[in-house]
Amino acid sequence: MSAPLLRVKDLQVHFPGPKGRLVRAVNGVSFTLKPGETLGLVGESGCGKSTLGRAILRLGDISAGAVDFDGIDVGGGDRDAILRLRLETAMIFQDPYNALNPRLSIGQAIAEVLRVHRKVPPARIAARVAELMQLVGLSPDLANRRPRALSGGQCQRAGIARALAIVPKLIVADECVAALDVSIQAQIINLLIELKARMNLALIFIAHDLGVVRRICDRVAVMYLGRIVEEGATEDVFGAPRHPYTRALMRAIPEIDPDRILPADPLGGEPPSPLDLPTGCAFHPRCADAMPVCRQEYPAQRFVAGCRVACHLYQDQTTHSEQERIHA
Ligand SMILES: Nc1ncnc2c1ncn2[C@@H]1O[C@H](COP(=O)(O)OP(=O)(O)OP(=O)(O)O)[C@@H](O)[C@H]1O
Ligand SMILES: [Mg+2]
Repeated sequence: MSAPLLRVKDLQVHFPGPKGRLVRAVNGVSFTLKPGETLGLVGESGCGKSTLGRAILRLGDISAGAVDFDGIDVGGGDRDAILRLRLETAMIFQDPYNALNPRLSIGQAIAEVLRVHRKVPPARIAARVAELMQLVGLSPDLANRRPRALSGGQCQRAGIARALAIVPKLIVADECVAALDVSIQAQIINLLIELKARMNLALIFIAHDLGVVRRICDRVAVMYLGRIVEEGATEDVFGAPRHPYTRALMRAIPEIDPDRILPADPLGGEPPSPLDLPTGCAFHPRCADAMPVCRQEYPAQRFVAGCRVACHLYQDQTTHSEQERIHA
């Protein structure tokens, strides 16, 4: 079994909120990711997915907890460690136009990454730019075009080429297809599937679209108000969702059962604010299965049939050594 590429432990990210209060955007997240593995990160808007993704890559500050990348502690602020992280990780963003500098042609934008990270000797840069463009399905003839002269799908491919220019071990893709037309989305998803197989890329795939997550991800983590409430192999989580929040999310996807009538409000109201977290399990005010204990105690993670679930409905089914194996 290969060692984890990424190990995140009890990660917290707080922002200053109104009247001196804290926004607990990420509130104690732990997980591991192996080389080449794809983890889907799902949950309602505002649950902390982007904040978590940025914190892991140290594009945003962390307030507490640990992040180890390839055996190096990158959570502590050591400059060499963060430099190493920059050399081996990349992020792909939602808006393909805004992610690229409008004044640079896409060839220049890709070349810039190669130059800054000294990935190839200067004389090889032009050839490598053409190679990377071909890798993501862009004709090298487009190298002189600026983002405005390209389609959304072409810009997203250019963004992916920029990310691949550093030959990363880990990419965080944050809603990277959400802004694209459905047919272009499918092309970009297929490209990611192909690239991750070819380059043994680990991928954290943040998405609202659970159908896409099911297609592309080996594992899925469901976030609710800054915490992972359920995590496991994609087919286990989709096949037998356990947390009442995951079940409500699954009920909201028409693709899984197109004949099922969607409830008008599958989740029962707005999520509470991370400024004002409920006591106990943060989901209890919206949970049909809530018990008195759910109002009082935050549920520790339990291991149920290979998945982690933070819910009082379940008993831990694993031995300690099995837990260590799951976390290894
Ligand atoms: N720079 C910031 N300052 C203050 N609060 C912030 C900041 N960035 C994010 N937040 C808050 O942190 C919480 C998590 O935000 P985040 O953007 O990570 O959610 P998300 O799951 O990515 O949502 P979406 O699906 O809409 O992209 C939200 O309540 C948000 O308002
Ligand atoms: Mg986001």
